[in-house]
Amino acid sequence: MDIHQNIPLKNYTTMKLGGNARFMTDARTPDDVQKICQNAKTQNLPIFILGGGSNIIAHDEGYAGIVVRNRISGFEVLEDTPSSVTIRVGAGENWDETVKKTVDMNLTGVEAMSNIPGTAGAAPVQNIGAYGQEIADTLIYVEVYDTVSDTFVRLENKDCGFSYRHSIFRGDQAGRYVITAICFTLFKSAPTPPFYRAIEEYFETNNITVFTPQVIRDTVIKIRTNKLPDPTKLPNAGSFFKNAIIEPWQLTDLLKKYPDMPNYDLPDGNKKIPTGWLIEQTGLKGETIHGMKVHDGNALVLINVGATSYTDLAAARDEVIGAVRDTFRIHIEQEPLELV
Ligand code: EPU
Repeated sequence: MDIHQNIPLKNYTTMKLGGNARFMTDARTPDDVQKICQNAKTQNLPIFILGGGSNIIAHDEGYAGIVVRNRISGFEVLEDTPSSVTIRVGAGENWDETVKKTVDMNLTGVEAMSNIPGTAGAAPVQNIGAYGQEIADTLIYVEVYDTVSDTFVRLENKDCGFSYRHSIFRGDQAGRYVITAICFTLFKSAPTPPFYRAIEEYFETNNITVFTPQVIRDTVIKIRTNKLPDPTKLPNAGSFFKNAIIEPWQLTDLLKKYPDMPNYDLPDGNKKIPTGWLIEQTGLKGETIHGMKVHDGNALVLINVGATSYTDLAAARDEVIGAVRDTFRIHIEQEPLELV
């Protein structure tokens, strides 16, 4: 196992910012993970696990510990029944290649999450979601190395504390577990309407009436390619903000002044407001602030067009948050994690 020193994090994060990692190494097996964690503990070195770097923001001072790139591979069918297939995937596998494999098997459950950058192991961390699906809907368990008890354990779906773009892995247990594999169950039945609005609209415009996982994947790829910048070409970290969650009374109040404000019901009774819409109303869509451009395809996304530091990014972020707060009295939150 090679350990490299003073590695620029901007080369390993799609936002292309940040200082150096003091150490960096790859973990190719769960055993590697255990060895690295045990060694780091004896040397009192903090550890940060990196997937694809597409949802991570590095700081200018870098990271004074060891950054471990999760490269654990594997794609294995655990169970095949007349109605479903249960699949276990190594945490370091590319997420979209994983989705492609399941769509090639004609399975439904993750096809709407096509074209999301990053690794399979990162998917549960922020409970990735798109076009009506989220990983929490199909995930059965994750296999993890527990750095506290120094053992490998399995965490069932209910133990992961999933909610909108959230889990224990970025919440109160952040840093404790290293995900080594994920396991989900997908279905052999055809995907059934109603689909997410943008997908329904695409189907109507293009006269698509037969719904298969492949058709949904192709549609999502088309919609995403139009709306979201490719992180390999334009540095970005996908949605830079979470959609806003507000209480029903706040919505009632806001609708008096902004009757067109889009809003969606959440299972817990709260309301979700598209932050892209909120930002657009402030007039910042398409603007460049501190070298960060508010994407004109979707104002939720910030593209690094000239920022050279985390400080620039933070200044741009805070300006956007401030503009939304001043206009709507809604506090919006950053979505990508920080490498600290
Ligand atoms: N909208 C605007 N202006 C904008 C952007 C959005 O008015 O600039 C409004 C529109 O009313 C639109 C609604 O917001 O109907 C929803 O927009 P969209 O369907 O594009 O989705 P989103 O809420 O902006 C979320 C996810 C995306 C995911 C899409 C599709 C979050 C933080 N983002 O965006 O995820 O692809 O839904 O399901 O939940 C990501 O996490 O990196 C990501 C791209």
